[in-house]
Amino acid sequence: MDVEALKAEAGKAACDYVTEGMNVGLGTGSTVKYTILELGRRVAEEGLSIVGVPTSIATRDLALEVGIPLAELDDLDGLDVVIDGTDEFDPSFQLIKGGGAALLREKVVAQSSKRMVVVADDRKQVSTLGAFPLPIEVTPFSYNTTRRAIAKVLGCEVVMRQSGEALLTTDNGNYIADAHTGATIANPVKVEASLLALAGVVQVGLFSNMCDVVVMASGDGITVLTKQD
Ligand code: 5RP
Repeated sequence: MDVEALKAEAGKAACDYVTEGMNVGLGTGSTVKYTILELGRRVAEEGLSIVGVPTSIATRDLALEVGIPLAELDDLDGLDVVIDGTDEFDPSFQLIKGGGAALLREKVVAQSSKRMVVVADDRKQVSTLGAFPLPIEVTPFSYNTTRRAIAKVLGCEVVMRQSGEALLTTDNGNYIADAHTGATIANPVKVEASLLALAGVVQVGLFSNMCDVVVMASGDGITVLTKQD
């Protein structure tokens, strides 16, 4: 099975967590795209009534295109569920996110949701986080100073993310620094705290103790992994 088919399978399967009347956080990326397409189909064909809160401009545009009614997070009293992709997840359901540069809004939305459902193919399952370079959103002001400080804290190479010739700018007007830690992040809570202590760091792509369920697609079909409290 090709990767695109696995993404579609996981993305669609996660729609089982959405029921009538829910406020739903809509994640960002090429896997959750299939969730959004399927929710749009259910809204149009089955009359499903939901309100979505997008985690990026790209997701907002897609959700509007497929007819999902949207609201501002500020105008709602929290969300029932967020469905989002991930770049890695470990056995404790800790995540690295931000491959699509949407980590700040994704984290705000995840923290406002009663439940976080992650959609992934089995390439994202790791024993220790960090083979995927850790995305860190930083302020444009003296970003190189922040990049060097991150490198010192983590003891690894840190590279500013480019978009063509320019630095990539996030939906929030910030930059992304990618930290090449290797698969060494055994204690994401500690790593996150040490990075957030740097003034130029806006947010870190470590999502600790947020994910409740992973809907994972592999050649063997869908596996639903549920975190035990
Ligand atoms: C965006 C993200 C994405 O959810 C993550 O990068 C996974 O994306 P994809 O499903 O395309 O692999 O965190 O900031």
